[in-house]
Amino acid sequence: MNRKDEHLDLAYSLFPETSKNFADVRIIHHSLAAVNPAAVDLSSTLAGLPLKFPYYINAMTGGSSRTKAVNAALAQIAKENDLLMASGSCSAALKDPTLWPTFSVIRKVNPSGILLANVGAEVTPAQAQEAVARLEADGLQIHLNSAQELIMPEGDRHFYDWQENISEVAARLPVPVVVKEVGFGMSRETMHALSAAGVRAVDVSGRGGTNFAKIENARRSAREFADLANWGQTTVESLLEASVLDWRGKTLLASGGVTSALDVFKCLALGADAAGVAGWLLHQLLENGPERASAAFFQWQNELRTLFSLTGCRNIADTQRVQLILEGSALNWCALRGISAAGFAERNR
Ligand SMILES: Cc1cc2nc3c(=O)[nH]c(=O)nc-3n(C[C@H](O)[C@H](O)[C@H](O)COP(=O)(O)O)c2cc1C
Repeated sequence: MNRKDEHLDLAYSLFPETSKNFADVRIIHHSLAAVNPAAVDLSSTLAGLPLKFPYYINAMTGGSSRTKAVNAALAQIAKENDLLMASGSCSAALKDPTLWPTFSVIRKVNPSGILLANVGAEVTPAQAQEAVARLEADGLQIHLNSAQELIMPEGDRHFYDWQENISEVAARLPVPVVVKEVGFGMSRETMHALSAAGVRAVDVSGRGGTNFAKIENARRSAREFADLANWGQTTVESLLEASVLDWRGKTLLASGGVTSALDVFKCLALGADAAGVAGWLLHQLLENGPERASAAFFQWQNELRTLFSLTGCRNIADTQRVQLILEGSALNWCALRGISAAGFAERNR
């Protein structure tokens, strides 16, 4: 079977029924804080690109006729919901140009939506530019997936020049560049190194939702990497890591196990400018069909407006003053990595 088709099936069948990713983050309720929902502005920005809502459809697929149909359905959901969307990795089409229509269908379905093209960290600036041009994209995502490649039976083993390469692509491309993980999260050291390489936008994409350690292991006949199933930082841990860095003039994005408007809100409260959704939406699409998936996603706008209103937040900047209680492994992470959990609990509203 085509690898991208296999990924779809495994991402669907292995996606956790319930994710505890954000359970360690509680929001302090203040009875006098609420503001009128009509006064709430949900808009945000992603490396200078305007977002009407602070969530987006993250990189998933393309490269086969089946994934072309999934891309068309996702693009339709993006259009109906006014959301940014990222394509899946264009690596296959960069090798075999007959596959470009399985990606460019996104632009056909949604001519005026904001679109990011997705590539691996090994691409040349010319290849990155080609992906952006073929998709008529507004920006580029570069994925970091060393854990996935190493567990993938046929995966890449050349990682030594990724940082230098990303630096060159980010410097040469005329559109915004986001560097993302694929569900293993990021450390502050990684984010610091990306910043030093000239990267202005990062998606921490942490553990808690789609799990490529499990997906790639399921594609191995001996399943010998089962013990890596919990590899990496959760999305919450990754955002805590990010909280000690300076994001002024930069974009911090969160993804990995985001399955509700409340998860999006917690990502914002932990410092993200927006939150990405992949596995949950794929699950909705394959289980319930495009109309119901789109309607369920649309509902998040109302829920977010309610959460902003309830916590007295008029805009995204306000969410980053919402007081949070960190518990369990998130609290442990703070203690061991020198991050002030009290800072989140006591910050000024
Ligand atoms: C079926 C599927 C395919 C994916 N393919 C890509 C990809 O090509 N490039 C990429 O950067 N991330 C890819 N991802 C990772 C997502 O963009 C995201 O980082 C990760 O799934 C965590 O988010 P989630 O828990 O909401 O799924 C894929 C995810 C899924 C579910």
